[in-house]
Amino acid sequence: MEYVTLNTGAKMPMEGFGVFRVPDKAECEEMVYQAIRIGYRLIDTAAVYTNEDAVGKAVSRAIKDGICTRKDLFITSKLWVQDMASYETAKQGIENSLKKSGLDYFDLYLEHQALNDYFSAWRAMEDAFHEGKLKAIGVSNFYPNILTNFCETVKVIPAVNQIELHPYYTQEAALETMKYYHVVPEAWAPLGGGRYNPFEDADIQAMAAAHHKSVGQVLLRWGVQRGTVVIPKSTHLERIQENFEIWDFTLSEEEMKQLSALDMGYSGTRAKHFDPEFVRGCFAQNIHG
Ligand SMILES: NC(=O)c1ccc[n+]([C@@H]2O[C@H](COP(=O)([O-])OP(=O)(O)OC[C@H]3O[C@@H](n4cnc5c(N)ncnc54)[C@H](OP(=O)(O)O)[C@@H]3O)[C@@H](O)[C@H]2O)c1
Repeated sequence: MEYVTLNTGAKMPMEGFGVFRVPDKAECEEMVYQAIRIGYRLIDTAAVYTNEDAVGKAVSRAIKDGICTRKDLFITSKLWVQDMASYETAKQGIENSLKKSGLDYFDLYLEHQALNDYFSAWRAMEDAFHEGKLKAIGVSNFYPNILTNFCETVKVIPAVNQIELHPYYTQEAALETMKYYHVVPEAWAPLGGGRYNPFEDADIQAMAAAHHKSVGQVLLRWGVQRGTVVIPKSTHLERIQENFEIWDFTLSEEEMKQLSALDMGYSGTRAKHFDPEFVRGCFAQNIHG
């Protein structure tokens, strides 16, 4: 495992385990427990995934079983749009995440979208950061103009920006902006998120075979070699294991370029951040029942 140093001085693992679309709590707890047993130390959840409690249970089980200590782990969660309406709602949202997970602190906590009153919400994040409840604070889906405006305005610069990143959407301009402000890029959907058909691509299959690796491992290796933290999700144990084995081979410069050339220049997901329908959908998502 390799680590990247955040602007707080903390070390963040370059690979983690994501739990988006694992709503079944028992399944989520078991998969996170197994991921920690395999060696993952970074877990990525969010208030809107409604599984912070399952992640917390897996963490306490792993610690109880002597697999690791709390200090070895790097647990991330995210504040949902609904809770970013004001300083007060954000403060409450942070408390809810801590309470649900049963954790004393998060290693990283992100504003999930650049929506609602994300400046007031950030002040609550900054206060929780100074209180030690959030060891690092960051953002997600903040595109270059928004991130620039944000970094030029706020007191605490985000440690991380988590955005969609894989060979089909390389987002070079976003990475340039993050580099300028020393914000660490974290890749969501590093395997393409079940889209783009990378697993059926004969060229990537050939590249993987040449390294005695799988297509998934090649995609994740491409991600970490370009300096982005990757957080693949799987509910299959053999894939969770496979996705972790990316630290014993290197892609050549030529192979890196070949994969980057797949860039479409736009996202093929349903998360169309510039589409008013997507934005209204985020506001409509009520996580408090
Ligand atoms: N901040 C945001 O807005 C945002 C948005 C999306 C995601 N995320 C975070 O990023 C994490 C990863 O993104 P993601 O879950 O969308 O996509 P992903 O990790 O790129 O892809 C997950 C998909 O790939 C499959 N898969 C996993 N390993 C595989 C392998 N070795 N071979 C073949 N297929 C494999 C999974 O299926 P199985 O589960 O059936 O194995 C699942 O369908 C999320 O879990 C979440 O933590 C954040």
